[in-house]
Amino acid sequence: MTSPSTNPISLFSPIKIGGLELSNRIIMAPLTRNRAGEGNVPQAINVDYYRQRSGAGLIISEGSQISPQGLGYPGTPGIYSDAQVVGWQQVTEAVHKVGGLIFLQLWHVGRISHTSLQLNGELPVGPSALKPNGQIFTYTGLQDFEMPRALSTDEMPGIIADYANAAKNAKLAGFDGVEIHAANGYLIDQFLRDGTNRRTDQYGGIIENRMRLLLEITEQVVSVWGENRVGVRLSPENSFNDMHESNPQKTFNAVAEQLSAFPLAYLHVLEGDMMTGERNLDYVQLRNCFNGYYMANNGYDFESANAAIVENRADMVAFGKLFIANPDLPYRFAQKLPLNTPDSATFYGGDEKGYTDYPACDEEFC
Ligand code: PHB
Repeated sequence: MTSPSTNPISLFSPIKIGGLELSNRIIMAPLTRNRAGEGNVPQAINVDYYRQRSGAGLIISEGSQISPQGLGYPGTPGIYSDAQVVGWQQVTEAVHKVGGLIFLQLWHVGRISHTSLQLNGELPVGPSALKPNGQIFTYTGLQDFEMPRALSTDEMPGIIADYANAAKNAKLAGFDGVEIHAANGYLIDQFLRDGTNRRTDQYGGIIENRMRLLLEITEQVVSVWGENRVGVRLSPENSFNDMHESNPQKTFNAVAEQLSAFPLAYLHVLEGDMMTGERNLDYVQLRNCFNGYYMANNGYDFESANAAIVENRADMVAFGKLFIANPDLPYRFAQKLPLNTPDSATFYGGDEKGYTDYPACDEEFC
């Protein structure tokens, strides 16, 4: 173990990602909040919410669907229409005005959708016709998941083009970069893991084939954004959304290795299983398969995150729930101030309550 005196790098140390200078390594994780306006367009309360959290070294936006087909929940913002671009411009301007940096997360939910959320009542799509166990939150409440339609090989270029188009829109909207959401049981992850991918074409079978979609998307998105502006998020052992993989260490080591071919801003890894809290993979081994910055996430507090940086197990740490409840999280960490408690009843949907009304420390006695 390296002691702080021999390794001066801490959670508060700035970090340069190419031309981007992050003022600290305390990253705001992507968080679904279901508060976009009509047409899945970001609106004024979303601007306030992100502005309040600009003290993060980097904000990663909530997942934003790259196409109408990519939608899986009510009230999530998109990045495919002109109105959505204009809505996001208000967010990025507000964040930049107070010195923050913000990436947009590119999202396609794949099979985690419902006919009632899709255009013309079409079926959700996935790598294979395998129905997730469980229920989905729709406009009319919880409903059973449906059997998805397996994408044909011919449709794959269209999906990749949707990512490239969304990446261009994110640039127009003034973001500092984008993160490709390849985690948590959504489309790209459905291709990566063998429990959801039973294809027999070049996008299924051996891991080289299962990661083809991610690599082709990454290539396109990097060609839009250039070096050090594209991150990728993975979740090797998260069972959320009924996910299974027979050899997650081997599979995701290979994914990390192949992603090293691209000049990425970072690799962002949700470590362990969000559902059970179990953590069975060797994430240092995974990290060592990747040649760039490693961003750790899931369940870290100040002490464990700082230890991960000091001991060189991560370059940055992303915080989710703590950023929901503490808009000034880096300040509170630095001053050793008490933290507000997140209210899970207001995580998804609603108004300002539980969204923009968590006090910062200059507004209350801390
Ligand atoms: C969620 O809605 O709970 C959610 C969305 C996206 C994720 C993870 C969780 O990547």
